[in-house]
Amino acid sequence: MSFFWLSISSVILVVLLISRRSTLFKPSQLSLPPGPTGHWFYGVKNMLPRKEPWKVYASWSRGYNSPIISFRIYNRTIIVLNDAKSVSDLLEHRASLYSDRPNQYMSQTICGRSKTVFNISSQDPHHRIYRRLVQQGLGPKRTKLYSPILQEELTKLLENLEQSPKGFVQHVRRNFVGVVMKVAYGYNIDDLNDTFVSVAEETMKITDKTMANGSWLVDYYPIARYIPSFLPGGEFKRLGKVWRERLRYLSDVPHQWVKQQMASGSYTESFTSEFLSQEGGVIDEEKEDIIRWCAGGLYVGASDTTVSAVTSFILLMALHPEIQARARTEIDEICGQDQLPRASQVELLTYLQAVLKEVLRFAPVGNLALPHRVIEEDEYNGYRIPKNATVMGNVWAILYDSSLYPEPDIFSPERFIGTEKIQPDPRQWAFGFGRRACPGTHFAETSILLVMAGTLSRFEISLPEYTDKRESRDPEISFTTGITSHINLFDVCITPRIMPSRR
Ligand code: HEM
Repeated sequence: MSFFWLSISSVILVVLLISRRSTLFKPSQLSLPPGPTGHWFYGVKNMLPRKEPWKVYASWSRGYNSPIISFRIYNRTIIVLNDAKSVSDLLEHRASLYSDRPNQYMSQTICGRSKTVFNISSQDPHHRIYRRLVQQGLGPKRTKLYSPILQEELTKLLENLEQSPKGFVQHVRRNFVGVVMKVAYGYNIDDLNDTFVSVAEETMKITDKTMANGSWLVDYYPIARYIPSFLPGGEFKRLGKVWRERLRYLSDVPHQWVKQQMASGSYTESFTSEFLSQEGGVIDEEKEDIIRWCAGGLYVGASDTTVSAVTSFILLMALHPEIQARARTEIDEICGQDQLPRASQVELLTYLQAVLKEVLRFAPVGNLALPHRVIEEDEYNGYRIPKNATVMGNVWAILYDSSLYPEPDIFSPERFIGTEKIQPDPRQWAFGFGRRACPGTHFAETSILLVMAGTLSRFEISLPEYTDKRESRDPEISFTTGITSHINLFDVCITPRIMPSRR
């Protein structure tokens, strides 16, 4: 190695060490919550499993006999809350301290994503405005107005299921993407190859890369941003520049389309058009940006989460014919057999609602929700929570806590039925926490319940009948690892129901 490179590397290393020392030697008397220490530089980065880290955090929590644990990745302290009490005490009751998002220099600053609904700082005045707009746009009143969209997309979904039941995941995805594109932009998608869908998918793909935990040193040591892009280690800057431009372009495509449609005088009402046309259509750049970010957030928030829940539902129904039959009887009684269930009827389907609760508990969509950041040093149960620590609520650990849900590995909607010993509603954790809790909850539930009801009203879901005994055992249930988790697929049969009235 030449003298030049040796000097550059030494300077970077010294700067990194100094910045790490400053985070390690805080003058507080209290100790951090217990947890593994790991490597002096990387922390536990190399100890984190690729699969289901939530289960590892829960086992560390048991091992250290503490619901709250801590560890370090590079110079960042991570705190994981593994029980309902610590989550409620910190993320809910101290929400003013615990509702920020961790700094992710690569995604937020280099790629220009700091203003997305998911990333925006809770201290930015726009955060409140975002939440108000999104909650307003997806609350019970608006969701009622979206009923025709939900209904139309349900009909398409059921037709697609009848034509090619094997492609059910794609059909379900098409259904929710179709709904959200119409709600956000008034845009009617043709199929999943639609230009707008590709635009949204590309945005998600790039965003996933920019946000991958532990991938970008600059996320932990922003000083690394001074590494010139032509030097080794400066590749992130070259990539960041390309991604930033691409993301900026992509987030503008659907927004500009709505504006053009509005200017032509012929457009379908949507979240974007509704807010753009307020105040007599005169809207400044700042407000327009807010609308653009919020509408973009709807697609990202809705498209994968809802698909995860419905896919889990379909596979779980194949494994539990008795639960499926009970849910179908209720749907027949309340919605009738001759017409499709309607969005206004789903609130009457109490057993189906219990099934959805159990799907969200048994197959959590976001096992670790999204990470929060604490903006001030805090103290909890005699432990120090350092300023800027990343704080994660371990949703999985709570939803599989046997003191709340006896025999948590058993799928049983009956947990939420009846008047005695009803188990806690899992939605209070499944949708995240405090001032960052999911603003799409009501809309998500209505649209998912309608798809569940429509599917059961028209189809029987079952396991294939195998002649080979080895294959005829119940398939094992497992889930993918990611911000959104999906059930791993196994073969199921979705066959049109023979209606008793038409037999
Ligand atoms: C089964 C369906 C869904 C689940 C389980 C779910 C779950 C979550 C979770 C866990 C978070 C993070 C909360 C936190 O940081 O503590 C979140 C945030 C969010 N969700 Fe959902 N979600 C679902 C559907 C939707 C839908 C349908 C939309 C919109 C149409 C949506 C929009 C959002 C947005 C915009 C945020 C960001 C909130 C913020 O950072 O302030 N979600 N969701």
